[in-house]
Parts: sequence; structure tokens; C-alpha cells
Amino acid sequence: MTVTTTDFSAWSHASLQRVEETLRRVLPAPEIAPQRLHQAMRYAVLEGGKRVRPLLAFSAGELAHADPARVEIAAAAVEMIHAYSLVHDDLPCMDDDVLRRGKPTCHVEYDEPTALLVGDALQSLAFQLLGEYRLADDMKTQLEMVKLLATATGSRGMAGGQAIDLASIGKGLTVPELEFMHIHKTGALIRASVLLGARCGNGLAEKEFGQLDQFAKLIGLAFQVVDDVLDADSSTATLGKTAGKDARQGKPTYVSAIGVSRARELAGELRRDALDALAGFGGRALRLRQLADFIVLRKF
Ligand code: IPE
Ligand code: IPE
Ligand code: MG
Ligand code: MG
Ligand code: MG
Repeated sequence: MTVTTTDFSAWSHASLQRVEETLRRVLPAPEIAPQRLHQAMRYAVLEGGKRVRPLLAFSAGELAHADPARVEIAAAAVEMIHAYSLVHDDLPCMDDDVLRRGKPTCHVEYDEPTALLVGDALQSLAFQLLGEYRLADDMKTQLEMVKLLATATGSRGMAGGQAIDLASIGKGLTVPELEFMHIHKTGALIRASVLLGARCGNGLAEKEFGQLDQFAKLIGLAFQVVDDVLDADSSTATLGKTAGKDARQGKPTYVSAIGVSRARELAGELRRDALDALAGFGGRALRLRQLADFIVLRKF
């Protein structure tokens, strides 16, 4: 799938198609037993979402001269972890949301026990993919990739960030505390997307890998800062999820801490620093730069 144009929309269209095909293929078919669970898994993953994490994996993969047939599996694995995190995030015991990606949330469309199991099963499937497909030339790198995704998902990553989020309701967090929470609940998986895409190839020196890591950390934080801004500053129709919930639920966010306009500025600063980290890659980092722009300037 090498799209030679510099046009971001043509490239992302082709990449998104590839992501959708891969997800459809690797998710259990809806007629396989237990049908209801498999249907709910497909409901949670397919048809919706910006697919930012898979696009980041593809961009980093291109930079590292990775085979797209490998990257698509890594991208699908991260998107499954992400979809699982959303299904659980929306449960009544967490954010209690009824709308996600413009559709009723998984527990509303199905039921709570099913939504719980959807998350469990998507998480397992993500790791099954990393065990089933050859993603790196050597097994040591492949094992590192498993560890990378596991760390990004667990208590030192996304799940840990979610724990801090829930424990922080009604509290005013300081900016460093907010940063810590955001880096974990959202940044960790964004970072894993970039690094897994890059590890599918072997075209990067360790120093370059470090630059990519720095980019991913900064853009991962920017992603959640923008999510906070959009919650306060956009509409339910545009977002496809309920707007204004953070304030109503007493969640500490960058908006509650520093206000909408300063939070927007901060996202812009993080973007600039992220782009600086890519200096030296030249045209090879075009897609990553375009994605950084999308992440910070997006309206949904
Ligand atoms: C929403 O993520 C939850 C966060 C981690 C901020 P996205 O904004 O990427 O959601 P989708 O995948 O596009 O629905
Ligand atoms: C969720 O953050 C981060 C996850 C790990 C799912 P939010 O709770 O702000 O995400 P939205 O706004 O519901 O998408
Ligand atoms: Mg949440
Ligand atoms: Mg939420
Ligand atoms: Mg949010």
C-alpha cells in the first residue's frame, strides 16, 4: 500500500481501508459461537473511530521500511486494546456513557456482562495476534513487542491511568498530576502504536528509535489534552459521544486546570515539540507530521 502522493487524505483513505479489512478478518465471525459475544466484539471495534492509533503505526512502519502486512497486524492489535478500553470506560461503573462513535455504547446495545466480556476478549485477541503472526525478523524483537503492548495496556499504562482518573473525581489535580494521568491513560497506547509500527521494520537506528519515542510521548499527551478541550468545547453531534461530561462528572482535566484557550495553546506547543523530535527524518516522517497536525487540529 505505498501511496506516493503527499496528500494526507488519499494516504489516510487507503490506510483506513487496510485497517478495516484487517480488523474484519481477524475478529471472530459473527456466526461463530458464542455468537452474541462475537457480534458485540465486532460492534465495539468495527464501523467507527478515527483509527488514529493504526494510522500512527502505519506511519512509523513506513519510516522503518516495514512490510505493511506486518504493520496491519500490529495496528489491529493496538486498536483492539483501544476499543476494549472504550467499552470499559463507558460502563456505568466508570464514565457511565450511552453514546460512543455515534452509536449506543456496547453495554447499552448489548448488556453490561457482555460489555465486560467484550473488553476481556478483545484484550486477549490483541495478544493472540502478536503471538500468531510473524511481525519481526527476530523473535527477540517480537517478544519485545509483546512486552511493549502489555506494559502500555496494564497498570503501568492505560489501566493505571484509568485508575488515577477514577480516583481523581471531584479533586483538583495539579498540572504535573494531570500530565501523569494523561500520559498513562491515553499516552501509553499512542506511544505503543508508534513504537510497534516501527519495530515491524528494521530500518531504524536506535537513536532514531529514541527520536520516534520522544515524538510519540509528546503527541500522546497532546491527544488527551485535545480530548479534554473537545469535551468542553464541542457538541455531542460532532463528537459522536456525549459532550460536556467531564465538568458534569467532576473530572479534573486540562480545561478545569488551565482553561480552554490555554489548553489549546499547550496542545500546539506539544505539537511543535513533537515535530522537533522528528527533525532529521526529512520527508520520511511526512505522515507522522501530518498525523500530529490532525491530532491537534481535529474537531472530533
Ligand atoms: C477516545 O479516543 C478516548 C481517548 C483515549 C481520549 P479516540 O478519540 O481515539 O476515539 P475513537 O477511536 O476515534 O473513537
Ligand atoms: C478515556 O479517557 C481514556 C481511555 C483509556 C479510554 P476519556 O474518558 O476522556 O475518553 P472519552 O472522552 O470517554 O472518549
Ligand atoms: Mg474516562
Ligand atoms: Mg470517558
Ligand atoms: Mg474525554
